[in-house]
Amino acid sequence: MELDVKKFIEEKIREIKETIRDKKAISALSGGVDSSTCTVLAHRAVGDNLKVIFIDDGLMRKNEPEDVKEIFSAMAISVEIIDAQEEFFKALEGKSDPEEKRKAFRDTFYTIFGKEVSRSKARFLVQGTIAADIIETKGGVKTQHNILEQIGIDPEKGYGFKAIEPLKEIFKHQVREVAKDLGLPEKLYNRMPFPGPGLATRVVGEVNPARIELVRKATCIVEEEIEALRPFQAFAVLLSDKGTGIEEGARKFGEIIIIRSVESKDAMTAEPTKIPWEVLTKISKRMTTEIPSVTRVAYEITPKPPATIEYV
Ligand code: XMP
Repeated sequence: MELDVKKFIEEKIREIKETIRDKKAISALSGGVDSSTCTVLAHRAVGDNLKVIFIDDGLMRKNEPEDVKEIFSAMAISVEIIDAQEEFFKALEGKSDPEEKRKAFRDTFYTIFGKEVSRSKARFLVQGTIAADIIETKGGVKTQHNILEQIGIDPEKGYGFKAIEPLKEIFKHQVREVAKDLGLPEKLYNRMPFPGPGLATRVVGEVNPARIELVRKATCIVEEEIEALRPFQAFAVLLSDKGTGIEEGARKFGEIIIIRSVESKDAMTAEPTKIPWEVLTKISKRMTTEIPSVTRVAYEITPKPPATIEYV
């Protein structure tokens, strides 16, 4: 379906204005294209009646909070960073089941968010839910952290605010068109999707600061080496299994990193990227030299379905 971008933007700004009126709203920015786009839409609608926060959950890519703040300040939108790393790691401690981890993330996110809402006296939460999130959560494919009403949780009763989701009828590629038209920088509207629960979806088994730091470094290597291929999404995954390697003549049992890179239009289905051999071997070499605890690197080629894009 073709989207009339200008008409969409006009309509959404009007709707948001009519809903929020002179009350306060809050937006939790993640730096991804979805939350950035709905934040700019809401800012255009109500200006400084929108408070923009960035919850630093400790599960972001390298330099994420600082980069996001800078990009938004260039658009005259100020962003407050809330340091909640400890809370998230505590909630995730000892959990290895993927759905348990997702639920722990979601509950922590909304508890912290709830506190910020009451502090700011906001009555509305602006969030970047897109069509695929709703379809997949309803279909039971995953517990998407930002879907509440769709699974029968009323945020107004539970948390005291109403959700505004201006992007819920459109898909990722359409969000990018909207973002471009709104004047967001290309770095942002062409950005690879990054899941709400962050790097926690890329650590199989226990999530702790050390394992997150490892996958953060590995992700950075994959992103740098694969950027020129412009895949839909590419990243590294840390497995809970280990594999034997050799260091200075001795055997050592080290970490296994999976490279995941997919092509997709809307994230509902995906195909593995045909990564040239030289790129794969360069990534492998960098992983094992720059992250010495890594002994094995593998490229995973399962399409979605039957696999999902993320690992958790
Ligand atoms: P899966 O792994 O389900 O992911 O095939 C499909 C797309 O959604 C992203 N994803 C999420 N995005 N919150 C988000 O905002 C989430 O909980 C979440 N889980 C997955 C994923 O990165 C991919 O683009």
